[in-house]
Amino acid sequence: MTAEQLDVAKRFIDYHTKEYGFEKANVEFRLGKIEQLTDDPGLKTNSFDVIVSNCVVNLSPDKKKVLQQVYEILKPGGEFYFSDVYADQPVPEELRQNKVLWGECLSGAICVSDLISGALDAGFTQPILVSKQPIGVNNDELQKLLGAIKFTSCTYRLFKNKPAEESTSVNDKFGALVTYQTPIIHYENEFQFSQAITFKLNSEPQYLNTELVKMLRLSRYSEHFKFDSITDEKQIPNVTEQVIDQPVSNEQSSSSCCCCPGTC
Ligand SMILES: C[S@@+](CC[C@H](N)C(=O)[O-])C[C@H]1O[C@@H](n2cnc3c(N)ncnc32)[C@H](O)[C@@H]1O
Repeated sequence: MTAEQLDVAKRFIDYHTKEYGFEKANVEFRLGKIEQLTDDPGLKTNSFDVIVSNCVVNLSPDKKKVLQQVYEILKPGGEFYFSDVYADQPVPEELRQNKVLWGECLSGAICVSDLISGALDAGFTQPILVSKQPIGVNNDELQKLLGAIKFTSCTYRLFKNKPAEESTSVNDKFGALVTYQTPIIHYENEFQFSQAITFKLNSEPQYLNTELVKMLRLSRYSEHFKFDSITDEKQIPNVTEQVIDQPVSNEQSSSSCCCCPGTC
């Protein structure tokens, strides 16, 4: 983000305030780097419910620091909901130094395994995959440089869970049956928690395994759900294993998920 980009954003505050029917602006723009959120823009620790980002983390020179900083400024229970570009193998240093590939949001991409370790090291829960699509590189010259490296556009939820003692004492060692019972604003009919799990309001409860139920119980969404712990192993429904990651779909990335190379 540059000062010039910020000036453009600021010029449109009044327009959007009127367009969305607010009396006063409800946004504020601050200049800063995503890996220095508590420094330059002076964002306070434990102060945000949700942080969203689209196609910025890959451009940061220090992804681990991004995750640490985002974790620090989220409130307990808060969520980092973000789309970005991932590579299926480490991108060699000479490609990372290529300014065009970097600017196209390709050579700064990390592997999902690095996202997982960075997230866990920062204190987040296991990343929850919400969507994943392959990215095509529609430029022969760039494709030649990239060789066999494949890219995907993925959206993940990372939760900064509340401390366990803040919730009632529960035993979810066999998981729980979970009902979506109080609507989340804008998701009145259904709520897509992950690529594999969509809750329908006041519909059949869904089984969540121990790890997922803990994540949801200690997240900002918990008050919208009813949790019925499973007390006997024999009551665990016969569901396929609830994996956190999912195979890639065949659809190519659309701009709603993340930016596409060649559009930056
Ligand atoms: C691909 S664009 C995405 C912009 C916007 N999020 C969107 O969805 O349209 C990447 C943006 O990240 C900004 N950027 C690059 N490195 C950054 C960093 N370290 N911290 C914050 N922003 C950065 C760039 O200036 C650019 O505006």
